[in-house]
Formats: sequence, C-alpha cells, structure tokens
Amino acid sequence: MNRLDGKVAFLSGAARGIGGESAKLMASVGAKVAIGDVLEERGRQTVREIEASGGQALFVPLDVTTEASWAAAMDATVKKFGGLDILVNNAGIFVGKGVEDASMDDWHRLVAVNLTGVVLGTRAALPHLKASAQQSPHGSAIVNLASIAGLVGSQLDPLYSLTKGGVTLFTKSTALEFGRKGYRIRVNSIHPGLIETDMGQQTFVMRAKQVGTNDTEKAREATLALHPLGRLGTASDIAKGIVFLASDDASFMTGAGLVVDGGWTAH
Ligand SMILES: NC(=O)c1ccc[n+]([C@@H]2O[C@H](COP(=O)([O-])OP(=O)(O)OC[C@H]3O[C@@H](n4cnc5c(N)ncnc54)[C@H](O)[C@@H]3O)[C@@H](O)[C@H]2O)c1
Repeated sequence: MNRLDGKVAFLSGAARGIGGESAKLMASVGAKVAIGDVLEERGRQTVREIEASGGQALFVPLDVTTEASWAAAMDATVKKFGGLDILVNNAGIFVGKGVEDASMDDWHRLVAVNLTGVVLGTRAALPHLKASAQQSPHGSAIVNLASIAGLVGSQLDPLYSLTKGGVTLFTKSTALEFGRKGYRIRVNSIHPGLIETDMGQQTFVMRAKQVGTNDTEKAREATLALHPLGRLGTASDIAKGIVFLASDDASFMTGAGLVVDGGWTAH
C-alpha cells in the first residue's frame, strides 16, 4: 500500500518549485492532487506531467489572497475528487529588502500572500478536512510552509521573516485549537533552508544587490557556506518532508515544526 492511497490533497502555489514537486510526489504515492496557483499555464503543465506518470491531478486557478478564489478552488476540488484530506499551504513570496528599503506596498504584498493566504486557506479547507477526519482512522492533515526564517532571524529579509514567524505560531495555535475542539486535524509546519527554486534564485539576486554587486554566484557561495551539509536543498528534499507530515506515518504529530535545512539552524 502507498503512503497516501485514497487521500485527496490540495496544494497552494504548486505550479512549480517545492509545491510542484510535492504534488508530484504525493500523486506518485497514491494521492489525488489539486494544484492551485496564479500561474495557470505552468500549473496545467504540472498536472499533465502527473497524469503522464499515471497519477490523478487537477489544476484550479487560485489567488490565495482572496476568499472567493479559495471558495471556488475548494468547490472544484471536492466536486472532482469527492472530499479533502490534506491541505498544503505552500504559496509564498519573498521580497529580499531590508527594513529601510522595503516599501509599505512590499509589506502588504508579503502579508497578503504569506499570512492572509494561510489563514484563508485554512478556513476554506476546514469544513472539508473536518468531514474527512470523521471517516479516517488517523484524521486529516494541514502542512504549512514556514521557513528557517520563521525560526531564526533573517539578515536578508526581516519582513519575510516576520510573516514566516507568524506561520510557525499559527501552526501551533491551530493545532491546539483543532485538538481542543476534537476535529482530528493535525497541523504541522516545515522549515526549509535555502532551496534551489525560482525563489531560491531570487534570494541570490537580492543578497548580491544588498552588498552592492550583481555577483549572484558569490551570493550563492555565501549562502552555501551556511549549510553544514555542503549543499543547498532541492525541492525534492522538502517534498519528502511534506509527504511525511501529511501521511498517517506522522499520526502522533501536531503543532510541530520539521526542520529540513542542511544544518543551517544548528549554528
Ligand atoms: N526556496 C526556498 O529557499 C524556501 C525556503 C524556505 C521556505 N520556502 C517557502 O516554500 C514555499 C514555496 O517556495 P518555492 O521556493 O517553491 O517558491 P516558488 O516561487 O518557486 O513557488 C511559489 C509558488 O507560489 C505561487 N504563488 C505566489 N503568489 C501566489 C498567490 N497569490 N496565489 C497563489 N499562488 C501564488 C507562485 O506562482 C509559485 O508557483 C513558500 O512558502 C516559501 O516561502 C522557500
């Protein structure tokens, strides 16, 4: 039996990157996956790749910052797959500016995607996750994408760090609230180090800019030096952690944070 046989998962921001890789891995271990993203063509391409490998997937247009968009995405998912067992709040953005350089527009954009998006996703999925939990021996699961920047300070992007710190504690608080209410929904967060995705690339560009150069290779080397394992992370490294937290293998975990950072926060 596969780890996610019979489960339905919704992943926000899963057209590419960590979310895309997680959707593929989930489908390969038996889940039916719905991908919500603002990047329609890229999202539909990811769905085609999953289907070509024999998996079941659906693309739904989603802007995580609006309640109506979440409602439509949940309706489409439940209509197609008959329920929802797993929510992965993955969509996120990075700005990469210091406190003095970021504009209030930058801040409002970060809050809208990284925080409001997680709250709206949790609220929209909740009735469906509650209903599935009643039918399942181990209940339902939410996995939130935080970051090491939600555990320790970030010299590159303090505003991003503030949003990810919020995701870290929202995870613990919702785990407690849902536990108290007897919903049988586990909520955990994952905390990646630097992962080689489009966002990862963006961090090198911003790091170089902050020290007054265009040398992204040097910025990459400086970041690499912070990972004791001597390499940067891959989307697959994080997808494996997400599948674990979403699966019944983690059935006694809630309110926890899984750190997958090549040793960065061991310093
Ligand atoms: N890459 C890293 O180094 C790293 C490290 C720690 C945490 N994370 C977190 O992991 C998650 C995934 O990051 P990634 O590296 O795959 O980034 P990415 O930029 O490759 O992918 C993010 C996805 O989110 C989508 N998205 C952005 N705004 C959206 C919106 N309003 N509505 C719906 N979708 C939206 C994008 O279109 C994209 O497909 C993010 O929450 C990020 O903060 C990434």
